[in-house]
Amino acid sequence: MSVTVAKTAGFCFGVRRAVDLAEQQAKKNGKIYAYGEIIHNMHEIERLEKLGVYTAHALEDIPDGAGVLIRAHGVPRNVYTLLQAKKCEIFDATCPFVRKIHKIADKESADGRLIVILGSAGHPEVVGIQGWCGESVVLEGEEQARAFSERLEMEDKPISLVAQTTVNRSIWNISVGLIKKRCTNLKIFDTICKATDERQSEARLLAGVSDQMIVIGDKKSSNTKRLYEISRSLCSDVRYIEDAAELTTQELGQHQHIGITAGASTPAWIIKEVSNMMSEETKIETGEDFAAMLEES
Ligand code: F3S
Repeated sequence: MSVTVAKTAGFCFGVRRAVDLAEQQAKKNGKIYAYGEIIHNMHEIERLEKLGVYTAHALEDIPDGAGVLIRAHGVPRNVYTLLQAKKCEIFDATCPFVRKIHKIADKESADGRLIVILGSAGHPEVVGIQGWCGESVVLEGEEQARAFSERLEMEDKPISLVAQTTVNRSIWNISVGLIKKRCTNLKIFDTICKATDERQSEARLLAGVSDQMIVIGDKKSSNTKRLYEISRSLCSDVRYIEDAAELTTQELGQHQHIGITAGASTPAWIIKEVSNMMSEETKIETGEDFAAMLEES
């Protein structure tokens, strides 16, 4: 029996950067407020809270003059203004790839274009992007893209299409194809993050050769959900767990090859706990790095 941990499992560059900045500032000043959960992982939020990183779910929860961290997901433009009005010190950890979408939305809106966002309505990243748009529409997937494109008329507004950074690549491709057929004035900005693309490609390959896939991450994490969906489309036995406590050693013993992947907000220590549990409790060895197979594909 072998266990392969995806090379791309765990924190991406943007999340690492936000967590590091929060830790540094909490250490320096004793306390910092993250505006919204810094990442979608309760275990990590609890760990950070012990270090002085507090989650503020609303602006009213932040005292005037406090240090405030903007998480990697980014925020609407007006949040900066409101924090400045409260004389807060802002530590901006908006991921540069998300920031790029804000700039596109801002510029394209100023040019009078409708911004269409392919992503999850209500997700903080999407809410943040909408806060840099004039008029915007959110499409959650193929069905909504089809319905939207069927409603388009020749005289409709020009459209600029962007993606939430964690959107599934194949859903993006299908949706772009549908809108392209009906819209005569369309600008397409492929804003899916490279880290997302690589993580999804690796999950696809790994799920294709595994008897069981274990996807680790918080149930609220949108990029982890995508990994789960991809894994399920290729592997008949997929477990979506938040930590090692959700696994039993008996069920692991039934598989020849287990693949493990994890979302961008899953800390390395949780992934390690899961893989350690397998190698220690079930006496199986960790498989070769999967990167080689990815490179060959
Ligand atoms: Fe940034 Fe991509 Fe991570 S957009 S936050 S590096 S998934």
